[in-house]
Amino acid sequence: MQSNEQENIYTDEVNYANTPDASVWGTEDEATATLLERTSIAGKWLNLCAGDGRFNNQLLGKADEVVAADIDESALQKLVRITSEALRGKLATKTMNVVKPFPFADNTFDGVFCVGTLHLFPRPVFQSIVNEMGRVLKVGGRIIIDFATDIRRTYPDGSLWVVENEPNYTLEEALPFLREIFKRYRIAIITDRAESESVKLNDKEYVFTSNFILIDAVKE
Ligand SMILES: C[S@@+](CC[C@H](N)C(=O)[O-])C[C@H]1O[C@@H](n2cnc3c(N)ncnc32)[C@H](O)[C@@H]1O
Repeated sequence: MQSNEQENIYTDEVNYANTPDASVWGTEDEATATLLERTSIAGKWLNLCAGDGRFNNQLLGKADEVVAADIDESALQKLVRITSEALRGKLATKTMNVVKPFPFADNTFDGVFCVGTLHLFPRPVFQSIVNEMGRVLKVGGRIIIDFATDIRRTYPDGSLWVVENEPNYTLEEALPFLREIFKRYRIAIITDRAESESVKLNDKEYVFTSNFILIDAVKE
């Protein structure tokens, strides 16, 4: 699907039909996997901007139902394809634009999970996404997100790929910003340095490095 940075659509035009089963977005990081493992997850969860399914099987293994949502239908088709028969009965998909009002009623979900994506959006857009997450979340429900900071995408020749409009926060900027955004939630914050990761997207190949913040927020 076509990317359109001006409209906050960051699909990177990946052709998922031609990718192997492993996610094009890299390996699942330890910190997020551990957080999901030790968190009590039940009921209905929304995996927002789910892409081709990193962490989705872990969510499906614990939740009663997972709605995987993304603007790119071909990503969701791959996500369904790589989900085992045993878990597929608990999986639904929704094609949606995260910067528009979410196509779900208030208080629908017990949890909202979103990784690898939210650092891309300008501040007011990010705020409106979190507002929508809060609207569709039940009281006592949980939001788990990650947020990359200090990002560098380095091509083999040493030059950098800079994503248009990306705020590219430093860790020091992002922490107070996120605390303010989630001030009505009970939050736990984990910060870590991501492992350097080699990413291949169509004709682009680059090394992605960043710090990242994991937020575990409960709606009170
Ligand atoms: C960097 S990938 C991360 C995917 C997945 N969460 C992961 O961590 O592997 C970003 C995902 O966000 C989706 N996306 C980008 N802009 C979007 C938008 N405006 N609305 C919904 N999804 C969007 C892309 O299609 C892509 O699947």
